[in-house]
Amino acid sequence: MHTLTCTTKIISKSTCKQKMSQFSVVLLIGLMMCGACSAQLSPTFYATSCPNVSSIVLGVVQQARQSDARLGAKIIRAHFHDCFVDGCDGSVLLDNDTANGIVTERTALPNLSLDVSAVADIKTALESVCPGVVSCADILALASQILVALDGGPTWQVPLGRRDSRTANLAGANANIPLASNGFTEVQRKFTVQGLDSTDLVALSGAHTFGKAQCVTFRNRLYNFSGDGNPDPTLDPTLLQSLRQSCPQNTGDSNLSDLDPTTPNGFDNNYFTNLQNNRGLLQSDQELFSTTGADTVAIVNRFAGSQTQFFDTFGDSMIKMGNISPLTGTNGEIRTTCNRIN
Ligand code: HEM
Ligand SMILES: *[C@@H]1O[C@H](CO)[C@@H](O)[C@H](O)[C@H]1NC(C)=O
Ligand SMILES: *[C@@H]1O[C@H](CO)[C@@H](O)[C@H](O)[C@H]1NC(C)=O
Ligand SMILES: *[C@@H]1O[C@H](CO)[C@@H](O)[C@H](O)[C@H]1NC(C)=O
Ligand SMILES: *[C@@H]1O[C@H](CO)[C@@H](O)[C@H](O)[C@H]1NC(C)=O
Ligand SMILES: *[C@@H]1O[C@H](CO)[C@@H](O)[C@H](O)[C@H]1NC(C)=O
Repeated sequence: MHTLTCTTKIISKSTCKQKMSQFSVVLLIGLMMCGACSAQLSPTFYATSCPNVSSIVLGVVQQARQSDARLGAKIIRAHFHDCFVDGCDGSVLLDNDTANGIVTERTALPNLSLDVSAVADIKTALESVCPGVVSCADILALASQILVALDGGPTWQVPLGRRDSRTANLAGANANIPLASNGFTEVQRKFTVQGLDSTDLVALSGAHTFGKAQCVTFRNRLYNFSGDGNPDPTLDPTLLQSLRQSCPQNTGDSNLSDLDPTTPNGFDNNYFTNLQNNRGLLQSDQELFSTTGADTVAIVNRFAGSQTQFFDTFGDSMIKMGNISPLTGTNGEIRTTCNRIN
């Protein structure tokens, strides 16, 4: 802790006292804000309690992704949906549980194909080595990083030490998680509410460099975008034709298309060059580049021009997203099973 003394000759004693009280106020505000700044999370949180946590998670996901190339996309999306609803607390993983008054967040409108089934295998492996130690919220954060790296993306030091919620918040999921059709201003607002700025918005949207989306999430762009019977003018005509094949006008709601048609399973910066070429899949993707005057345009161009800048920023923004209101200390619990409270 800092100490201040009034021995300097440059400032008078009364000025010094004033400065000290100003300093205390700053310190106090700083401490109060630490509820949100999550100083308690640390990459070495499990260094003594579960030193092999990373290699255990790695072992399970390496195996699982051999039969599911989409695993990284599924897990990082689940982490995002977790963090945007009352913080990164594993709430998205809870199933319906009437006895405990829990209604799963995964019936929310933005759920669609959210698939969290791999988390159970990771948890089982961890419980057999360090029972009751590693939270489900941390599993999502750590597995996201490991899978992004396995798919060719960056590495970053994942702050750990989150605890798991004893509640879920379906209304929060419907209110907070952006929809593809929300429009740029609304998507940006939903990030701002979480303390994430335009750089975070663009970098994190870059997670759409892998994974798939259902026809129902972008069909309006293909047939009748503004109610005038025409497709979205910011959609490349060649991509439009191929998307119409897999996403018919009146059927096939759950047909899947690649979010990044250039390199569907790899984590790279092609997502951003796609946007420059009107080849973003979701309205929310393309609008980062096609919204006139938006501060995101320059950021898209920067990441399209430098994969290194994208990767560095992506890691920073993942840490920021992962720091949203975690439960720490004696709050919450370490779930034994990720889909239900203890
Ligand atoms: C910017 C606002 C965002 C919107 C509107 C949005 C919307 C969507 C939609 C509609 C889908 C398709 C879901 C489906 O059809 O089942 C999707 C998939 C996906 N999203 Fe986002 N998303 C956003 C931000 C993010 C962020 C911040 C991340 C992670 C950091 C992320 C990661 C993913 C991934 C990886 C997939 C593919 C999942 C899979 O293949 O199963 N998204 N997103
Ligand atoms: C834990 O990690 C150490 C060092 O990386 C390794 O030698 C050991 O085999 C690991 N143990 C388990 C159970 O994975
Ligand atoms: C969970 O409960 C909600 C509300 O009762 C219900 O609408 C939903 O269908 C249930 N979901 C599952 C997977 O059981
Ligand atoms: C979320 O969506 C997936 C895919 O559509 C579905 O299988 C799952 O049951 C949904 N979850 C809930 C709780 O409704
Ligand atoms: C497009 O949408 C508008 C408004 O919903 C509707 O009135 C119109 O009939 C639609 N046109 C076509 C070709 O589907
Ligand atoms: C999409 O869905 C329709 C109707 O369900 C189906 O006939 C079509 O074969 C699907 N297309 C692809 C590429 O999956």
